[in-house]
Amino acid sequence: MAKPPKFQAPTGMHDILPEDQPYFQKFYSTASSVAGFYGFDKIETPIVEEAELFSKGVGMSTDIVEKQMYVLRTRGGDYLALRPEFTAGVSRAYIEHGMFNLPQPLKFYSFGPLFRSERPQAGRYRQFHQFNLEVFGEQNSVMDAQLIQIFYNILTELKFKNLVIEINSIGDSQCRPYYKKLLSNYLKSRESSLCADCRRRIKQNPLRVLDCKEEKCQPVKAQAPQIVDHLCEPCKSHFKEVLEFLDELDLPYRLNPYLVRGLDYYTKTVFEIFEETEEGEKMGSLVGGGRYDGLIRLLGGKDTPACGAAAGVERIVETLKARSKKESSLQQQGRGVFLAQLGGFAKRKSLKLFEELRKAKIPVAESFGRDSLKTQLRIADKYQVPYTLIIGQKEALEDSVLIRDMKTGKQDSVKLDRAVAEIKKRLK
Ligand code: HAM
Repeated sequence: MAKPPKFQAPTGMHDILPEDQPYFQKFYSTASSVAGFYGFDKIETPIVEEAELFSKGVGMSTDIVEKQMYVLRTRGGDYLALRPEFTAGVSRAYIEHGMFNLPQPLKFYSFGPLFRSERPQAGRYRQFHQFNLEVFGEQNSVMDAQLIQIFYNILTELKFKNLVIEINSIGDSQCRPYYKKLLSNYLKSRESSLCADCRRRIKQNPLRVLDCKEEKCQPVKAQAPQIVDHLCEPCKSHFKEVLEFLDELDLPYRLNPYLVRGLDYYTKTVFEIFEETEEGEKMGSLVGGGRYDGLIRLLGGKDTPACGAAAGVERIVETLKARSKKESSLQQQGRGVFLAQLGGFAKRKSLKLFEELRKAKIPVAESFGRDSLKTQLRIADKYQVPYTLIIGQKEALEDSVLIRDMKTGKQDSVKLDRAVAEIKKRLK
């Protein structure tokens, strides 16, 4: 067996190789154009932030902060963290740049890598990417529904099928403390039937017990009081309105009373979007988000309602990849040309033609390093292009080019200055 190389990417982190790039680009161009349509502007924040921003924003007792954050001490003594999510950083930017003075709401999208030191498994990495949306200064329930709609649209535009939206409301600072007490009293009475993690959670964060996947905890969960029965009037009507909007938009949602999400800043609406297999089995969540009306104030800003969500890009790309067996962007388009050349003079003419094809936005592949026509035609076959353009010695001298139909093998000679127009016509 071959020895593994001395250096490998860190555990749970991956190279995004050239063959994967078209999928990431496809995702990004779809997501950013849908978000742009709904009035979102791009914002970029640093990959590191003060660690305290996350412990305060996301929550000290969350898995993300407690177990998964990569932290570092700088030479100057600052305590920083690689960002495990976008929301806290984008909120910090909103406060720092005084954006509450601008006309509200403000809508931002971001795309980039995040870091969580989780146990790597399928669809779960230590460095991964999110496409993230945040809206500041909008308390109306229509925004919660619209966020769901946007991510649903992105996924359906990428041809995802069998999508399911799970939704819940986890109340706010008015009604949640009472529910938490009720829940922790109930959990205490069933403590011996809970897993070790959940026994610890009763005190710190009883809501997280509802989200436990351990077999042992399921019967306890099933009889637990449900938060929707204990929402205060404003939270109840907000939730009702969100559901009415989803009905209006014909979005396929399901109420999940156990959905609490693993980040502490949420208030009212929380949701996740999944894909289900034909057999109705739920795959890992593709999108997660909700409302977080208390976060901006918690981080030192003015009272500002806010909501947002993020899609896990690797999980989406994996599905796109599995669906498409084709390997390059050119093959995916299946409508480009290959440019073959023979000899030094022909190569010079080809370089010029290549530029003209690029300007005309015709996808074109080449292998200028090869001189054998046979090899170049073999490469053209691999790209599955319908036409190959050939410039040999004779064509170079005559300022012409051969257009070879790759299916029939038929070749026509056209003048070099007519080549782009002729190819455009044939590719239509
Ligand atoms: P989250 O649920 O932690 O929410 O992450 C959102 C999505 O990122 C998940 O649904 C999943 O697709 C993906 N994801 C999370 N962890 C990993 C991982 N280790 N490997 C691969 N993919 C992963 C948030 O991060 C919130 N900040 C979303 C939000 C924005 N809420 C309001 N605004």
